Amino acid sequence: MTERLTITRPDDFHVHFRDGAMAAAVVPHTARVFGRAIAMPNLAVPVETAAQAAEYRERLRAARPPGSRFEPLMTCYLTHDTDPDDVERGFRDGLFTALKLYPAHATTNAAHGVTDLRRIDRVLERAEKIGMLFLMHGEEVDPAIDIFDREEAFIDLRLGPLTERFPGLKMVMEHLTTAAAVDFVSAKFPQVAGTITAHHLEVTRTDMLGHGMRPDLYCMPVAKTERDRKALRAAATSGEPCYFLGTDSAPHPLARKAAMPAAAGVFTAPVAIETYASVFDEEGALDKLEGFASLFGARHYGLAPNPDTITLERAGWTVPATIAVDGPDAAIPVYRGGGQVRWRVVE
Ligand code: DOR
Ligand code: ZN
Repeated sequence: MTERLTITRPDDFHVHFRDGAMAAAVVPHTARVFGRAIAMPNLAVPVETAAQAAEYRERLRAARPPGSRFEPLMTCYLTHDTDPDDVERGFRDGLFTALKLYPAHATTNAAHGVTDLRRIDRVLERAEKIGMLFLMHGEEVDPAIDIFDREEAFIDLRLGPLTERFPGLKMVMEHLTTAAAVDFVSAKFPQVAGTITAHHLEVTRTDMLGHGMRPDLYCMPVAKTERDRKALRAAATSGEPCYFLGTDSAPHPLARKAAMPAAAGVFTAPVAIETYASVFDEEGALDKLEGFASLFGARHYGLAPNPDTITLERAGWTVPATIAVDGPDAAIPVYRGGGQVRWRVVE
C-alpha cells in the first residue's frame, strides 16, 4: 500500500478568497499547498476592471505567509458593461488570466452578473481572438427550472450554443456536479474543460438533506445524486486531461452558514488536497492524482507546471471545526470540521 506520495505542487483553479480580514485568514490555507489559484471576482464590490484586479492581487499577495511563492491568478467579473479593451489590456499586462461568467443571481454576490448573454458577445469575441479563457458558473437561473436541473439546463440552453458560436474560445465549466456535465466536457474537450471540487466527490443531496438539514454542505451548484457523485469520481480519477482540480473553497462566517437563509459555499481550503487524496485512494487511483491536481489544469490554461513538489502521507488527523478571523466574523466553519481525514501533507 502506498504510504507516501510526492507530486508536482498542485494549483487550485477556483477559489474564493474574499477580502480584508477574511482574506487574511483564508489565503494562507491555500498558499500552504497550492502554487497558484484562480481567484474568484465575486467580492461585495466585484472585480470588473483591470485596475480593480491589480489592487485586489496586491491585497491577496499581502495576505500570504512570509516567504510564500503562492500566486493568485485574477479573473474579470463579466457584466453587461465589461469593456473589451480594458479586458485585453489587463490580459496583455498579465493582470487578468480569465473571464468569469455569473448568470445574474445564480449565487453569492452574483447580483451584478449577466442576464443576457448576447450582451457579452463583444467581450467573448475579443477573448477568443486574444486566447483568453472563459470560465463559467454553469447554472440556468430561470426560477421555473428545478434547482437540481439547473446545470443540465445551462448546458442545453447556453453552453452548447456558446461553444458553436465561439469555436475558438477556450472555456472551463466550473464545479461540475452532474453525470451530464461530465459527459458534455468529455465530448467538447479540448475546447471545454471542467473542474471538480473535493466536496462534490464526497457529498450527495441526501447527505445534505436526508439526515437533518446540513447548511455546512450547502453550496451552489448544490450536490446531486449518488449516480452523479459516482460519475464525478470516475471522471476525476480517469486520468483524462479534461477534468482538473478546482476546490470552489468558499468561506462564510459561522453566523451566515447557520442563518436563515443559510449562505451557499463550503470552505475546503484547509482540507482540500487531503480530501482529494483520500478520494483517489478510495478509488485505487493515487497514481492519477498528480495529473488531476497539478498538470491538466495548468496545461488547459497554457501555464507551465509548478517547479517544485509536495508530499502527502497516509496518516489520520482531526480537522479543526473552524478557523478564526479577526473582527466581528469571528469564525469560519471548515468542511469536515471535527472529523478525521486519512491523508495529510508532510510539512
Ligand atoms: O456555493 C457557492 N458559494 N457557489 C458559488 O458559486 C459562490 C460561492 C461563494 O462565493 O460563496
Ligand atoms: Zn465558486
